[in-house]
Amino acid sequence: MKLWPRNAGCRQAPLAPGTRLGNFEIGGILGRGGMGAVYMAVRQNDGQPAAVKVFPRDNTAAGEDARARFEREADALCSLCHPNIANILGHGSCGVIDYIASELVDGASLEQLLRATTLTMRHYRRIITETGRALDHIHSSGIIHCDIKPSNILVSRGGAVKITDFGCARFAPRRRAFSGANEKSWGTAGYMAPEQFDAPEKIGIQTDVYALGVTFYKMFTRRLPGQAGCVPASRVNALVPPAADAVLWRAMKTDQSERYASVSEYCGALIEALDDIAPRSGDAEKYDSAGTRMRARLILILSLAATLAALIVLAALVFKTR
Ligand SMILES: Nc1ncnc2c1ncn2[C@@H]1O[C@H](COP(=O)(O)OP(=O)(O)O)[C@@H](O)[C@H]1O
Ligand SMILES: [Mg+2]
Repeated sequence: MKLWPRNAGCRQAPLAPGTRLGNFEIGGILGRGGMGAVYMAVRQNDGQPAAVKVFPRDNTAAGEDARARFEREADALCSLCHPNIANILGHGSCGVIDYIASELVDGASLEQLLRATTLTMRHYRRIITETGRALDHIHSSGIIHCDIKPSNILVSRGGAVKITDFGCARFAPRRRAFSGANEKSWGTAGYMAPEQFDAPEKIGIQTDVYALGVTFYKMFTRRLPGQAGCVPASRVNALVPPAADAVLWRAMKTDQSERYASVSEYCGALIEALDDIAPRSGDAEKYDSAGTRMRARLILILSLAATLAALIVLAALVFKTR
């Protein structure tokens, strides 16, 4: 459940295919969220496929809020460019509609994937690594996403991660006044860190670390931590080693200062925990790197044993000839 006033966009009739918003021609609908709808589109001057998010404006308080979120999202996207972010192609206004066009991701959200498919260890590793890279870039640009969750992590058919939906983003205080302590904090219940409810002035990198803790717990178990009664992920999913449980819990600590200091530290620890396991199930991919390390160790031991045997034989021969 999104925690902000639903605006007119939720009730708005869908845009007809062929509608022009600036340089973009609207096609079919891709998804609907709290703010309105996202459409497939084509950029007219070069045929570039796009995803266009529309924010219908009205004179109500909710309409004003939609306008503020549009500006915030456009502002955040304009300062970002990364292979693991659905990068902006353009934005503008057309009548009472504000819109943001971004790269079209041909794939599905992690939320949809969790419902429709079974992910392997190879998928887990790539999603963790690429989401981590995107968030590191976002944070180093002075932005906190504030709404990390599986439906905002898109995965292309080729398996690449693209982060989307910067409608709740906050800027580091040096950048924009609207990140002030008095500002209301938005997000999605279940993924929001305690400080998003209690102390918006404390929102920072560790707020996204918390949401990513919940997101990866859900990726492994298909449930939210509360719903599972805090069952360790390793008990729900045989691919997850017990070492990963401690990493997930640390990311979701109530006390912000006890969480990982950065997303790269968290994702690095999680990958390491996933990597360092003994086989417990038949999934061969899970053991890709662990298996390679085992084989390398075996080869080293065998070559040391062979060298030792050769030395003993040599010493025996030398001894005999004396
Ligand atoms: N760049 C994109 N490419 C493909 N699909 C997208 C893109 N952006 C959004 N979508 C689809 O639209 C849905 C809602 O988009 P999102 O930006 O999360 O809006 P909201 O703020 O309404 O949640 C996403 O979950 C996804 O299915
Ligand atoms: Mg969303």
